Amino acid sequence: MAKTERYTVGLDIGTTKICCVIGEIRDDGKVHVVGFGQAPSRGLRKGVVVNLDATVESVKAAVEEAELMAGVSVESATVGIAGGHIRSFNSRGVVAVSNRDRTVSRDDVKRVMDAARAVSIPQGREILHVLPQEYVLDDQGAIDDPAGLVGSKLEANVHIVTGSTTSVQNLVTCANRAGIEVRDTVLEQLAGSEAVLSEDERELGVALIDIGGGTTDLAIFERGSIWHTAVLPVGGDHFTNDLAVGLRTPIPDAERLKKKHGCALASLVEDAGAPIEVPTVGGRKPRLLSHQVMTEILQPRANELFTLFRDEVVRAGFDKMLNAGLVLTGGASLLPGVTQVAEQIFELPVRLGEPRGAEGLVDPAAGPQHATAIGLALYTAKNRRPRAGVPLTAQTGALGRVGGRVKAWLSEMF
Ligand SMILES: Nc1ncnc2c1ncn2[C@@H]1O[C@H](COP(=O)(O)OP(=O)(O)OP(=O)(O)O)[C@@H](O)[C@H]1O
Ligand SMILES: [Mg+2]
Repeated sequence: MAKTERYTVGLDIGTTKICCVIGEIRDDGKVHVVGFGQAPSRGLRKGVVVNLDATVESVKAAVEEAELMAGVSVESATVGIAGGHIRSFNSRGVVAVSNRDRTVSRDDVKRVMDAARAVSIPQGREILHVLPQEYVLDDQGAIDDPAGLVGSKLEANVHIVTGSTTSVQNLVTCANRAGIEVRDTVLEQLAGSEAVLSEDERELGVALIDIGGGTTDLAIFERGSIWHTAVLPVGGDHFTNDLAVGLRTPIPDAERLKKKHGCALASLVEDAGAPIEVPTVGGRKPRLLSHQVMTEILQPRANELFTLFRDEVVRAGFDKMLNAGLVLTGGASLLPGVTQVAEQIFELPVRLGEPRGAEGLVDPAAGPQHATAIGLALYTAKNRRPRAGVPLTAQTGALGRVGGRVKAWLSEMF
């Protein structure tokens, strides 16, 4: 991007669609969406690139569309990372406060974070984020920023997110081949939370569930921090597949019928007996089936999806923490009845996560399916540094990011 600091670009490389959002950072610090582009994704499976060329083409198409709308050219972007290769866990670091007068310095904070992240990571994996949850100073917990406070033992509790190095690199390569330098790689749930969650929800305890095409991602927030993340290999495409098998219709027709007539809760269907024309496979005549038949297929799948997540939340020990309930994003959250099914299974309030926090959010960028891409742009704007071209968080691995650093050093030297 010509003036990196004026613009922030989010690139969401999903299983179903690739989305590019260009945000302009105005003087008041607010992000205005000035460009939006989207292209169908054909080269990914469960969040992992399986066809490089197809993905590169889709990235190019999405970026070009956004560039055209914004009237600027994109040089770098923040790319979202998700999929079954993501693992995350909580870790803890402890150090002695080094100053004689026992005031915690910035250096102590850095040392304790280094201690918390000094865990052995299996080969072939890299750390994507080390997210501070709370600091503990001499048994006084829930400290947001210990610098300047007095104590002798400083502890940090952090959430560490790791990803497969090859999976991350392949995504970065796709962006690079499409002519985009990767400024940062960000966990999609973290980005999505920027776009849809309020501060209050993050404080009180909330689960963000992003129901995409091939996978569904979960993140649990409490006291302003992330405590648990998980990915399940079930998403909107499974609803489509169930319909295709149950109605004996081709997958593209099942997808169309799902979007047009689908509903995940029987009690919401107004005209349950009304006929729908369902194309058949093998060129036979279309059949007429009722709405009820579709709901009978979709409802068990929705029940299963949220039961899996409820079990995951209980297993991880966070079921009593979700005081602000659940927020749903992703394309499959648009299926009518999905929020109600989630409410029944979790016995908690559930709402749809329309992206907010960015100005100028009109069609086509609105809707919970775009929360990740908008969140990526917002995340970068929030965490930006005053100098252009510098990657935002110190990370290892992926080649694309090195380019940014080298450029920054060069621009500092000359
Ligand atoms: N109006 C709708 N009603 C029901 N389902 C929908 C609707 N619109 C999109 N979907 C479903 O949402 C899914 C795609 O969601 P989304 O666009 O969030 O996926 P993605 O981000 O590309 O995938 P992933 O996050 O898994 O990599 C598809 O299964 C699609 O059928
Ligand atoms: Mg997605």
